[in-house]
Amino acid sequence: MDILVERADGVMTIAFNRPDRKNAITAAMYQTMADALVEAHSDASVRAILIRGSVGIFSAGNDLEDFMKSPGGGENAPVFQFLRAISSAEKPLVASVAGPAVGVGTTLLLHCDLVYAAESATFSLPFTQLGLCPEAASSLLLQRVAGYQGAAEKLLLGEAFDAKEAQRMGFVNRLLPAAEVDAFAMAQALKLAALPASSLRVTKALMKRAAQHEIQTQISEEAVHFGKMLLAPEAREAFKAFFEKRKPDFRQFD
Ligand code: COA
Repeated sequence: MDILVERADGVMTIAFNRPDRKNAITAAMYQTMADALVEAHSDASVRAILIRGSVGIFSAGNDLEDFMKSPGGGENAPVFQFLRAISSAEKPLVASVAGPAVGVGTTLLLHCDLVYAAESATFSLPFTQLGLCPEAASSLLLQRVAGYQGAAEKLLLGEAFDAKEAQRMGFVNRLLPAAEVDAFAMAQALKLAALPASSLRVTKALMKRAAQHEIQTQISEEAVHFGKMLLAPEAREAFKAFFEKRKPDFRQFD
């Protein structure tokens, strides 16, 4: 199972479990996570949700082989089911990032309520380096947390940055030694699970409601561009280069 879903003591844990591929996310994995989030919504015994990676890696983002073989898929594709579910989750979402978080591995964090990371974790939004554009409403949400220039630097250059910078930018709550981050995040999720679910729900809704329409619109708008760019020669060259372990050559394109 590439995604492990467990329920205990009021917390649903969704864990990436594909370490040989650095937890790169396939369509089937998006579907499992989307289904789990939908179930969490209607299961009263779930009071908080924890998302975590495996030892030393959070997620390498979308599976690039999937991008090459079956790009797109329309509004109902598993990735969009997942993005809609995580961006509109009413229950608190806690993330534990114990290693690299790439692409959607980072953008999904912008939809979590509490984010804890290992001091050694790294983050990156390499969309332009892949000939793509931002997704998961990151073109809107990152500038809300980090300011326009803070977001522009990460989204235009696409370079990796460290956990201290992610915390300074504002989307990581606290840094911990790598060996402690999962346990700390779980302890925080358990604290949430012990609080009145109705209070948590209303508090989160009050913070999120005003931006909800804009976030959904941004996800859809980004998806239109992203879908076209996935098929363009720049992205094909970038994916090929990744698997051939070489730098892409974008000079051949206008
Ligand atoms: N999709 C498919 N396969 C991936 C992958 C991805 N997103 N990320 C890593 N892999 C595969 C690698 O091809 C490699 O396979 P191999 O063992 O057959 O060579 C294996 O996972 C291990 O990855 P590797 O790059 O050797 O590990 P690393 O520890 O040196 O680096 C990362 C880890 C996450 C920093 C690096 O793999 C990476 O940058 N991945 C691509 C991220 C990306 O561009 N994601 C898409 C965002 S939209």
